[in-house]
Amino acid sequence: MDASLSSPSSQRASPSCSIPTLLDRAAEFLDLFAGELGRPVPSARLEQIRREVESRGAYTHTEEELQIGGKVAWRNSTRCIGRLHWQSLEIRDHRDLHRPDEIFQALVEHLRFATNGGRIRSTLSIFPPPDPITGEAPRIWNGKLVRYAGYVGGPGDPEEVEFTQRCQELGWEPPAGIPGHFDLLPVLIQGAGEEKPRWFELPPDEVLEVEIRHPRFAFLEDMAVRWYAVPVITDMILEIGGIEYPCAPFNGWFMGTEIGARNLSDVDRYDLLPRIARGLGMNPEERKTLWRDRAILELNEAVLHSFRDDGVTVVDHHTASRQWDAFVARESRAGRPVHGDWPWLVPPLSGSTSSVFHSELENRVLSPNFYYRDLPWQEGGMAAAEGKEESDSCPFHIRSRRRSRHKD
Ligand code: ARG
Repeated sequence: MDASLSSPSSQRASPSCSIPTLLDRAAEFLDLFAGELGRPVPSARLEQIRREVESRGAYTHTEEELQIGGKVAWRNSTRCIGRLHWQSLEIRDHRDLHRPDEIFQALVEHLRFATNGGRIRSTLSIFPPPDPITGEAPRIWNGKLVRYAGYVGGPGDPEEVEFTQRCQELGWEPPAGIPGHFDLLPVLIQGAGEEKPRWFELPPDEVLEVEIRHPRFAFLEDMAVRWYAVPVITDMILEIGGIEYPCAPFNGWFMGTEIGARNLSDVDRYDLLPRIARGLGMNPEERKTLWRDRAILELNEAVLHSFRDDGVTVVDHHTASRQWDAFVARESRAGRPVHGDWPWLVPPLSGSTSSVFHSELENRVLSPNFYYRDLPWQEGGMAAAEGKEESDSCPFHIRSRRRSRHKD
């Protein structure tokens, strides 16, 4: 359910078009804002923004603008199948928190609020935007708030190997002294203008986890596999009306396949399918028997069963697909076209049984939205050079460095 990736500037019609200024973007957002509220925005508001931009190079969203902006950013996230629920997003305004320790505290509270004893609430926390003069803002180095460490040539989540190394360089060590498969990673937070991030351990009792077991196959429980309950994305930039919030973690709840058909089964992640096949009495050397297909199905049934049995919100891909249909219908009644990123929307299991498989979608990125950024420890490379031209020609535009992970 990650959101989309092109930068707002990539929507320019051609390179010869002028780059929209911060004020243009603010004006465009105010139009959208008025449309969402169904009432005109007083013209004085744009005037006020103009004066603020002229005096300090940025403007401050009102609480209501932040609320609408955050929700519409989710509605515009072309990679998310769960957008039916966009209006229920809980938005927490933390623009007054700057120090890493206070940001960490707010992240723990975000997690507690979102977890809600298992009845997960979609939540977005918004921390300060960059200082318009220095371009500096606090940042979270993690890709997700909760993740398991990965060790070179050892146990854990291979996707987190590089991040785990960064943590170890800062002095973090595996909780039990030796690397394990499901070691909770610390949270790395860098204060604005600070040279290095600081690391903080999440209190284990704040992190709800589910032990994966199968309603019929006991061997699965013996594999001692677990997954955390709440997926909180911490590495995307929220953009509203030209203001970019690089520290804006958000969460929904899992669709079972994210865990069962990706995190636990991709060969470059936990790669559990061969072991599950063996547990089912199949031989993973023999391709023709469709052992992967049988194993992935049982693993996904186990994930859904375990979450449901523990009372933790999860959605199966068939229900998500029905909810997607409801979203498309509702958007069409509201007169809004639905944009989508097909390869991300089609569930990774039994794709053709979902309606989205059979739809043609345009992948257009509207503002507000969530964007990728560079890995914080790799900044200053190519992306920074690319940003030069844009920031030179538009003194008010604060460019966040973005990373494209997509083939387009
Ligand atoms: N797929 C990502 C993960 O497994 C989480 C992306 C967000 N998912 C969500 N259901 N909101 O870590």
